[in-house]
Amino acid sequence: MSKYTIQSLAALKKEKKKFACLTAYDATFSRVISESGIETMLVGDSLGNVLQGHDTTVPVTTDDIAYHTAGVARGNTGAMVIADLPFMSYATPEQAMINSTKLMQAGAHVVKLEGGQWLCPTIAMLTERGIPVCAHLGLTPQSVNTLGGFKVQGRSPEQAEAIIDDAKAIEAAGAGLLVLECVPSDLARTISELLTIPVIGIGAGNSTDGQVLVIHDMLGLNPRPAKFVKNFMAEAGGDITKAVMLFGEQTRNGSFPAAEHTFN
Ligand code: KIV
Ligand code: NA
Repeated sequence: MSKYTIQSLAALKKEKKKFACLTAYDATFSRVISESGIETMLVGDSLGNVLQGHDTTVPVTTDDIAYHTAGVARGNTGAMVIADLPFMSYATPEQAMINSTKLMQAGAHVVKLEGGQWLCPTIAMLTERGIPVCAHLGLTPQSVNTLGGFKVQGRSPEQAEAIIDDAKAIEAAGAGLLVLECVPSDLARTISELLTIPVIGIGAGNSTDGQVLVIHDMLGLNPRPAKFVKNFMAEAGGDITKAVMLFGEQTRNGSFPAAEHTFN
C-alpha cells in the first residue's frame, strides 16, 4: 500500500487541492522524489526516449516497464506508483489483464493506458479485478504514427468534443485517474471540472488537478524541451532534491504551469 491512493487523490480534488507527479525509472530517483513529498510517480514509457534513446515510445516492452517498476518500488517511501502499459500490450482486454498483472506484481499501484472509448471494456475488466486504471487522452504518444506527429490535440471544436466524450466514457467505465497531454488550457479546464476523478495535466495548463513532467526534462537535461517544460534545476541552483521540491510546491500552489508553458 502506498500513502496516497486513488481514493485519497479524489479526496484532494474535492478539497480543490492539487498534487504532483514525476516520472521515475529507478530506485534512487524514486527515493528522492518520494522523500520530497511528491504524491505520485509514473514509470512512464517515456523511458523509451530518455533511457533507451528511441525517438518514440513504440519500441518499449512490458518487460522493460516491469524491470523499472521493480526498482522504483524498492526506492519508494510512500508515493503512489503508476506504471505505463506500453504500445500494443493492451490491444485486447485479455492482453491488458496479463500485462497489467506483471506490472502490479512488479510493484505498481495503478496502470496507465492511452485511448478513449475503445478501452472502456478493458478499463472495466481491470478495475473489477482489482487493478486501478489511469487513462491518457489528448496527445497519446504511442499513436504518433497515426496522429502524424507530436502535436497539440483538441484545437478544433469537433476534436475537443471527441476528447470530452472520451473523458466521460473512461470515467464511467471505472478509470480512477486521467492524464491529459498537450491540449488547450480551456479544454483541460472543462474536462477537469466535468470529471469527479482527478485529471493530471502535462502541457494542459494550470486548471488540472495535478501536473506531471518527465524528470529528465524538469532537470534541464533535454536539449530540445517542449514548450510546457520548466527547468526547475536552474531555479534550484543545481540541487536535484530542491528542484523536485520546487516542482511539488509550484504545482500545489498553482504557479506552475505559467502562461509561457501553456497552449491556448
Ligand atoms: O511516459 C510518460 O512519461 C508519460 C507522461 C509524460 C504523462 O506518459
Ligand atoms: Na507514457
